[in-house]
Amino acid sequence: MSRPRQLTHATILILLATTWFLLSLSATAVHALRPPPQAAAPAPGTLCIPRERDALLAIKARLIDPSNYLSSWRDEDDCCQWAGVKCSNRTGHVVKLQISSYMTGNNVGGEISSSLLALQHLKHLDLSSNDFGGKPIPEFIGSLKSMTHLLLSRSNFGGRIPPHLGNLSNLISLDLSYQLESCHSLDLAWVSNLRKLQHLNMSKVDLRTVVDWTHVVNMIPCLGAFQLS
Ligand SMILES: *[C@@H]1O[C@H](CO)[C@@H](O)[C@H](O)[C@H]1NC(C)=O
Ligand SMILES: *[C@@H]1O[C@H](CO)[C@@H](O)[C@H](O)[C@H]1NC(C)=O
Ligand SMILES: *[C@@H]1O[C@H](CO)[C@@H](O)[C@H](O)[C@H]1NC(C)=O
Repeated sequence: MSRPRQLTHATILILLATTWFLLSLSATAVHALRPPPQAAAPAPGTLCIPRERDALLAIKARLIDPSNYLSSWRDEDDCCQWAGVKCSNRTGHVVKLQISSYMTGNNVGGEISSSLLALQHLKHLDLSSNDFGGKPIPEFIGSLKSMTHLLLSRSNFGGRIPPHLGNLSNLISLDLSYQLESCHSLDLAWVSNLRKLQHLNMSKVDLRTVVDWTHVVNMIPCLGAFQLS
């Protein structure tokens, strides 16, 4: 007599368990469909990445800045708002650095700190129209792999142009024109690695020992404007 009732209880229990199981399954499915949380998306106005801000401050510390162009570079502020600094809206990484007397009205000098290497997302570096007192262009600039525009004209660099710049395989524009007389390159083999280059300016760079320049220039498919003397 009580058997059917027991069965009913059992059936209800099984139904409940199945419903619970299905509900939790669909909850899991919905969760899986939901987009993952934004990867630490910085809030507007606070884009600055602390590690990159520290690098910029270390760069500033090695520069001589007579016109105080870098006065906005202060520890407590959003480094993406600093003079000459541009960050990506999307990632917050510093993508452009422009310290040029076109803007400062006075040459920046001193030393380029290797802290620059912390800015691995840098695409655009403009240090033109400064006075680096005959020091060579640092080799480590060749490690900034994202670089598309490297503008170092009229900045009183001297010595050998480091062939390490040939590692900048994304480079579209390279301007090394008008340095001190001692500024030279022994060959241009490194330039032929820059397959995306569209604009090259090595005007007034001493290329007396270079014999292969037509060959090099012919190896760069997109090169439009170039000036080598
Ligand atoms: C970034 O944001 C600023 C201001 O909101 C806007 O003017 C600019 O066009 C944006 N840049 C990019 C590359 O989206
Ligand atoms: C960059 O280029 C230089 C000289 O061409 C080379 O000696 C060096 O190993 C390269 N470095 C990297 C990280 O590719
Ligand atoms: C190369 O640079 C010099 C001076 O910086 C400029 O006068 C000249 O027009 C440039 N040449 C090209 C092809 O851009």
